[in-house]
Amino acid sequence: MAFNFVFIVLACLCAVQRTLQLQIVPGATLTAVNTGQHVQAHGAGFIKVGDLYYMIGEDKASGSNFQNVNCYSSPNLAEWTYVGALVSRGASGDLGPGRVVERPKVIYNRQTKKYVLYMHIDSGNYKEAKVGVATGDTVCGKYTYHGSYRPQGHQSRDMGLFQDTDGTGYLLAEDREAGLRIFQLSADYMNVTALTYLWKEKYEAPAILKRGSTYYMFASHLSGWNSNDNIYSTATKMTGPWSGWKTFAPSGSKTLNSQTAYILTPDENTAIYMGDRWIEKDLSRSTYVWHPLKVNGNTVTMENHEYWNPPVGATGQAGQEVTYAAKDAILKSVAKMSNGAAGYIGGPDNGSITFSAIRSSSNQRRTLKIYYGSGDKAPRYASVTVNDDKPQKVQFLSTESGRGISVVSVDLRAGKNTITISSFNGGWGPDIASLKVAE
Ligand SMILES: *[C@@H]1O[C@H](CO)[C@@H](O)[C@H](O)[C@H]1NC(C)=O
Ligand SMILES: *[C@@H]1O[C@H](CO)[C@@H](O)[C@H](O)[C@H]1NC(C)=O
Repeated sequence: MAFNFVFIVLACLCAVQRTLQLQIVPGATLTAVNTGQHVQAHGAGFIKVGDLYYMIGEDKASGSNFQNVNCYSSPNLAEWTYVGALVSRGASGDLGPGRVVERPKVIYNRQTKKYVLYMHIDSGNYKEAKVGVATGDTVCGKYTYHGSYRPQGHQSRDMGLFQDTDGTGYLLAEDREAGLRIFQLSADYMNVTALTYLWKEKYEAPAILKRGSTYYMFASHLSGWNSNDNIYSTATKMTGPWSGWKTFAPSGSKTLNSQTAYILTPDENTAIYMGDRWIEKDLSRSTYVWHPLKVNGNTVTMENHEYWNPPVGATGQAGQEVTYAAKDAILKSVAKMSNGAAGYIGGPDNGSITFSAIRSSSNQRRTLKIYYGSGDKAPRYASVTVNDDKPQKVQFLSTESGRGISVVSVDLRAGKNTITISSFNGGWGPDIASLKVAE
């Protein structure tokens, strides 16, 4: 009792009540909250279990060959915590060295009480073209691999899964020779039982959205790792008839420079396009391009946003965004301005930049956008310190000769705040051009 009493008193003195209003910034470096590294879950599938969203995708940290199918969790779609790998590289076989494992997707089977993971399984030269199946008892735990097959003997390359509202599972599978298929899965989801539909068009990256009684099938053209104008088709039955294909993103924008991975539906009125912006020369640098979809009857549209507020998790209102330029900040040690950005951040002499008057209208947790440049191929890192808080390690993917955005959540207090970007472990950070954060 005495202990509890002391604890409660301390908690009341220390806890600052904060509202939460975060942003999703398409194409930004997305540092996981517990690793200090860009999220490695490319070609991802998503599933909600309890109050958390899980992002399950390819780990490309050490190249294009299979390493892990990683799992991250988030309560709000903006802050992601690395939880573990569902399957990892083994000594031999489908999941051995030099293998291709892509586009993992998980659905939960209510009858068997198993999470069922499908993924594209291939040899390094993409000649096998199969699906692999694994099952797990918990969404983000270790999965047991059960092997691979060609659905009804057909090639399957880019794939997706769709779970209908009645629980029926479907495999979406691209066959380079014949087209794009939908197969119905068996009751336990471990095999395909019937061909549901075949499009003769040669499209890949399939994903299905259901809204009311309408199905929307999304896909991309075939252009390797380069983006193209992705398309969708609609139907009121999975067996069709399916409509002709139309674009949904601004024409010529190459789907805002991305490829469909998944369509997430946090609730029945919200659909979010989850895409990948692949960087072929270093797939680990690929970023996540997520935008809300506007669905109106049979028409789906997607607009460009530099950022948007995710539809879940917020407990406050978004204020006006304010930009803080590096030229108005305080540079210390070797840090100096060049081409509109503060260079020589970090390093052995710990160059740093301090923004001393970051305004906040209340005590709140916000997304801090850091505009930076980094010509290095390898990622750079820096420590971001807000007021007297613990420094956070933040990654900055190469921007080559351009500018990029790296995002990190920060706790701001009402009034003025100080944000310092400095060395992480003596390494060089990126060139810092500006910060942007809502008041
Ligand atoms: C899957 O179903 C096919 C028939 O459609 C059958 O030939 C095959 O053996 C089944 N695979 C497994 C692992 O049960
Ligand atoms: C680097 O400089 C910043 C800002 O002056 C300081 O907060 C931090 O402790 C320094 N880090 C190291 C490793 O010296």
